[in-house]
Amino acid sequence: KKSQAWSALFSEPMSELVKRYTASVDFDKRLWQADIAGSLAHAEMLAAQKVIADQDYADIQRGMAQIRADIESGKFEWKLELEDVHLNIEARLTQLVGDAGKRLHTGRSRNDQVATDVRLWLRGEIDEIAVLLVEMQNALLSVAERHTETVMPGYTHLQVAQPISFAHHLLAYVEMFARDAERLADVRKRVNRLPLGAAALAGTSYPLDRERVARTLGFDGVCQNSLDAVSDRDFAIEFSSFASIVMIHVSRMAEEIVLWMNQNFGYVDLSDRYCSGSSIMPQKRNPDVAELARGKSGRVVGHLMALITLMKGQPLTYNKDNQEDKEPLFDTVDTVKDTLRIMAEMVGGEVDAATGARSGGLTAKPDAMERAAKRGYATATDLADYLVRKGVPFRDAHEVVAHAVKVGIDSGKDLSELPLDVLQGFHASIGQDVYDVLTLQGSLNARQVIGGTAPVEARRQIARHRGRLE
Ligand code: ARG
Repeated sequence: KKSQAWSALFSEPMSELVKRYTASVDFDKRLWQADIAGSLAHAEMLAAQKVIADQDYADIQRGMAQIRADIESGKFEWKLELEDVHLNIEARLTQLVGDAGKRLHTGRSRNDQVATDVRLWLRGEIDEIAVLLVEMQNALLSVAERHTETVMPGYTHLQVAQPISFAHHLLAYVEMFARDAERLADVRKRVNRLPLGAAALAGTSYPLDRERVARTLGFDGVCQNSLDAVSDRDFAIEFSSFASIVMIHVSRMAEEIVLWMNQNFGYVDLSDRYCSGSSIMPQKRNPDVAELARGKSGRVVGHLMALITLMKGQPLTYNKDNQEDKEPLFDTVDTVKDTLRIMAEMVGGEVDAATGARSGGLTAKPDAMERAAKRGYATATDLADYLVRKGVPFRDAHEVVAHAVKVGIDSGKDLSELPLDVLQGFHASIGQDVYDVLTLQGSLNARQVIGGTAPVEARRQIARHRGRLE
């Protein structure tokens, strides 16, 4: 009795080591729903095209229903000898319904089957990730809404630069995640094409209706070249690029949260449920979740490298190399989903499904933020701009203010704390109204340009994002 799908030609069985080395069922069984959906759509079309009998299609439906139930209840017996998810399901189908099961593979190869399964599965995951990206943006907006007037230092080179609002800072991340969502929607278009009908590589002589299968499975269209259809995995690479970028954004945000939690900053606090203690140092509360999110960006970027390298130099068309696309892709999807979910929750709090109320998110510490902004001479640029408005050329104003900051540092005072006569000593055109621009609030309010940090502009941006995300 033959034990493999192709064994009539073979005079000896595969060695145990080779079986284990080449089998993918341990990980690709997660494609089972896509595999069954693809097979049913293919069989329906074969029947409509009179390639198989209506009774065959009915038998296949019945068998697949049984298989689905068995997998869901954990009763399905996955066999390593049957190599992958495709052969496992097909073999069981034939066991259950006989010849109809053997007719299912007419006009099909595992090469177009696996490409179809991965695309179908990935499309579903993309749609879930799109929702998570919306949740992440809403989480950030919910915090930003409370802090359009909360002043903190903005940094360049991680040195205090200019005052900004905490809302404005968070809105920068909303922009990043909004672009990630756009990128994801774009990736989806190219993922959502049907390879089935390409067969092994050259197409098939059966009168397949590929457009019909595409419609059944919700694909936007069919792959137009059979060789390309079975061999390329650029859709996976593209998804992986999206995932790497999103994880880089998350890791920057995570790094800032870690920094802000540090006692020397003290800008934010996290709920205990996102922190861990130390087994030796009783005072410790560590931002483990943020650190791990930062760390996990590494594996996602690594998977992108793995996929790109996997494709490089592969001759057309299908090569077994492509079986190696799955573990990186699966882990990428799992990591991105978990990370987005937990980071959105940590920032915006958990959302009560019934009331929509949020609890337990990130807490800002406006006093610490403001103290830090004052300590860093964040309004130095504002003083220079003030002098420019009084007719002083900008380069001269820059020099005057540098001098003032030096005096401030030497006397341990912020610019706004220097008396008027001292300020007038730096430039005669300085008047009492200078204190309006030297305050942090004054500095913020002055920046009403589109995309600027003024509270009025932050509120406008928040409203724009809320409208966009509805
Ligand atoms: N498990 C294989 C994969 O993941 C399915 C396709 C195998 N095709 C073949 N002719 N060996 O790529």
